[in-house]
Amino acid sequence: MCAKQVKKVEREVPTTGHTWDGIQEFDNPMPRWWVWVFYACIVWGIGYTIAYPAWPLINGHTQGIYGSTERANVEADIKAFDDANAPIKAKLVAADLASIPSNDELKTFAVSAGASIFKNNCAQCHGSGAAGVQGKGYPNLLDNDWLWGGDMEAIHTTITHGIRNTTDPDARLSEMPKFGADGILEKDQINQVVEHVLAISGQEHDATLAAAGVTVFAENCAACHGPEGKGDRTLGAPNLTDAIWLYGGDRATLTYTVTNARYGVMPAWNTRLSEDEIRAVATYVHSLGGGE
Ligand code: HEC
Ligand code: HEC
Repeated sequence: MCAKQVKKVEREVPTTGHTWDGIQEFDNPMPRWWVWVFYACIVWGIGYTIAYPAWPLINGHTQGIYGSTERANVEADIKAFDDANAPIKAKLVAADLASIPSNDELKTFAVSAGASIFKNNCAQCHGSGAAGVQGKGYPNLLDNDWLWGGDMEAIHTTITHGIRNTTDPDARLSEMPKFGADGILEKDQINQVVEHVLAISGQEHDATLAAAGVTVFAENCAACHGPEGKGDRTLGAPNLTDAIWLYGGDRATLTYTVTNARYGVMPAWNTRLSEDEIRAVATYVHSLGGGE
């Protein structure tokens, strides 16, 4: 078989003269179609480098006659998107806050825009599902237990100005005294009031100490947490009778809280988000289940 092929080669196609172990290299011309495609690619390639940014220069690169850049393309896409949303954003800003959740058009837009604003700005503290981080002071925003209030107006104010931050003079502000650290209560009194809090939150407690804690509570805590410990939203004082805890409801954590107090801080968003974005994320939070 080998001999037959060699014979055919000698008759039709010249070889390059290279021979390895009896295998010869043919010198066939490139197929015509392939050559034309090759030339076309060269022409297209030259054209492309003239039309689009291509060649590196000492400072930067050639711009191309179309001046096209990916950055400009993205900016144009974003602008087109913003222009398309401008009318509904304007409506969102003009609407009465309380009416937004019952306006289907605004609500649909606000909840979907708000969900992505939440993921980018709020999730690091409140959790990607808004369930908060119990024990760390980051409240769950899914339930209907609110520190500062759960209607649109209250949520909007909280987000706009934040809580106990040093940057916004209108931030929500209140401060629980450091009853132990500042020597306002004796160790015994702290133990008593902690047992009282365990009692009103339906947990296992020492009845004698808890009974003594009633007076301590009335004199030191009721002003903020209410006579029954149900909390006060004007002060952001949590309800102490439910099973929902910002920092924790066990004996050790309660003792720590009463001794050293807490100072939960949330940044103000009016310097980072636009009004339509604040309204969108407020509507999103309101829609999570606990909205009032
Ligand atoms: C740096 C952490 C942090 C970030 C970021 C943050 N928050 Fe908060 N947020 C907190 C803390 C802490 C509290 C509770 C403060 C307190 O103890 O009163 C809070 C409270 C709230 C409350 C009040 C809840 C209630 O029960 O009244 C709302 C509403 C809220 N945040 C929404 C948001 C939204 C929306 C964003 C994003 C735009 C956001 N937060 C971003 C830390 C944060
Ligand atoms: C000046 C108002 C004020 C007074 C007085 C006050 N508290 Fe508070 N308390 C607060 C506020 C505000 C918070 C929330 C702090 C935060 O979120 O950082 C809080 C939080 C707590 C918490 C944490 C609840 C949780 O969910 O983890 C406990 C427990 C508590 N207080 C108990 C008491 C007890 C007991 C007293 C009385 C000895 C008392 N407080 C007096 C305002 C007050």
